[in-house]
Amino acid sequence: MAYTVPKLKDYSAETLDKAFTSARDAFSEENTQASDPARLKAHRDRWLARKNGILTQIRELWLNQATGEARAEVGKRFNGLKGHIEGLLESHTLHLAFRELEKGLGKRAGKLGEDKRAEAASLDITLPGISRPIGVEHPVIKASNEMVGVFRNLGFSVQEGPEIETDYYNFEALNFPPNHPARDTQDTLFIANQRSKPLREQLLLRTHTSPVQIRTMEKVKPPIRIVIPGKVYRNDPPDASHSPMFHQIEGLAVDTNITFGDLKGTLDHAMKAFFGSNVKTSFRPSFFPFTEPSAELLVSCFICGGSGKRGSEPCRPCKQTGWIEILGCGMVDPNVFEFVKDNGYDPSKVSGFAFGMGADRIALLKYGVDDLQLFFQNDVRFLRQFA
Ligand code: PHE
Repeated sequence: MAYTVPKLKDYSAETLDKAFTSARDAFSEENTQASDPARLKAHRDRWLARKNGILTQIRELWLNQATGEARAEVGKRFNGLKGHIEGLLESHTLHLAFRELEKGLGKRAGKLGEDKRAEAASLDITLPGISRPIGVEHPVIKASNEMVGVFRNLGFSVQEGPEIETDYYNFEALNFPPNHPARDTQDTLFIANQRSKPLREQLLLRTHTSPVQIRTMEKVKPPIRIVIPGKVYRNDPPDASHSPMFHQIEGLAVDTNITFGDLKGTLDHAMKAFFGSNVKTSFRPSFFPFTEPSAELLVSCFICGGSGKRGSEPCRPCKQTGWIEILGCGMVDPNVFEFVKDNGYDPSKVSGFAFGMGADRIALLKYGVDDLQLFFQNDVRFLRQFA
């Protein structure tokens, strides 16, 4: 028989105990029978509906009729019953929700099982598997590694350094005095909010790999021969030959009695090894604060063979000059050695040469690509041609 709310004949403890216990038992019994979401909803409404729900009836018939001390007693029990009912309803709702979820998952798992069986029936395990492409070196990295390899074969070892640098390593120790106009040529990207620090500690994105010359000479005593590949940054808008991020390969050799002849011989060999043994090299005067004398190295245009023409057309890569500029170089300026003198680089005892080239540029030339931006757009149809 479904539970209905009886009238109370009195407010004795005994009567109240009996009344509240039977209400509570009735609820618990019905609660276990609410075994699906629809029944649960009906059950909840029967007990909690504001209008005429059982709890509302109990409030009206038992609580609101009571007066004085009896009212306080009924109130306490009423609140207890209400908390009990709400608590059980909540956990029961959760329980049902989980069960529904499990049912759904079970159905899907069953479907998966069927699919697998169907697949197994048609599976020929003697067929070769599907091979997945594992990727290859990016053309810029590939060219860079190849150039680094040329110098490794000459006994150079590889060094790297941070892309976020201090003013000290990027400029000061490379003999760029504060406010010197040579700094302007670097189109530096500065890190914000550095002005409260001393100039030499202010951070920036390195504009060249040359700071690693200093970092290495601080750590390693002469003689040294190092190559330094890495990313560098300049405030250049992107176009067919510029990018705000690009790559350089730096070189440094320091020993007693290193001469400009060593510089020329080393770089001439490297260009022939990289571009082909028939290229010629040419050195022209230049300027860098950290080398003296300084030069730029050109190689004869391997596209037009140095003639400046391709058939009747002008040769674009060498701008019809027959020569292509590849790098900057020079003898290490004694002022640079002064900064690392304490680690054995006494400018009166050692000498050295240094060079720096753009890795993206040599990749463009080597692979005959005419737009630098292609290297950074990550279009696999372009990149896969270098696989
Ligand atoms: N750091 C120079 C540049 O980025 C290149 C360079 C390196 C020149 C080493 C001379 C010696 O332009």
